Amino acid sequence: SIDMCRLVKLSKHHHDNGNLTVVEDCNEIPFKIKRTYYLYDIPGGVERGGHSHKALYQLIVAISGAFDVTIDDGVKSLTVTLNRPYEGLLIVPGIWRTLENFSSGSVCAVIASEHYDEDDYIRDYNEFKQLTACKRKE
Ligand code: TYD
Repeated sequence: SIDMCRLVKLSKHHHDNGNLTVVEDCNEIPFKIKRTYYLYDIPGGVERGGHSHKALYQLIVAISGAFDVTIDDGVKSLTVTLNRPYEGLLIVPGIWRTLENFSSGSVCAVIASEHYDEDDYIRDYNEFKQLTACKRKE
């Protein structure tokens, strides 16, 4: 459920010559990091995401600029604005997510628990709703 999703505070090394943030395996991130990718050159007004994952854990970080992430577990949904390079949103499996309102020049980094696997995606919202309804009956 979205209650399992949370903001994770990352380290911030503040220096007069600039700041530095590290993302590494630690207790705060409940998965082993296997893959990192980033979205950039994002045109204004677009929506990204629009899917859920069966097994993938992700940490989403606005390493530059800002954007909104809406998370939805089939019952509840919540929109979080990410705009700090030292703060990540942990998204657990089974959550529908959409990313939108990207500021100009923003960069969205995604730190993930598994390699890319199209079979892990659910890209149809009705299918997602049916699956979450089935899971609640279990
Ligand atoms: P997708 O995860 O659907 O993008 P977003 O959620 O950001 O809108 O990925 C878009 C395409 O990029 C996907 O169809 C295949 C490719 N892709 C890879 O080849 N490897 C990857 O690790 C990712 C994340 C995407």
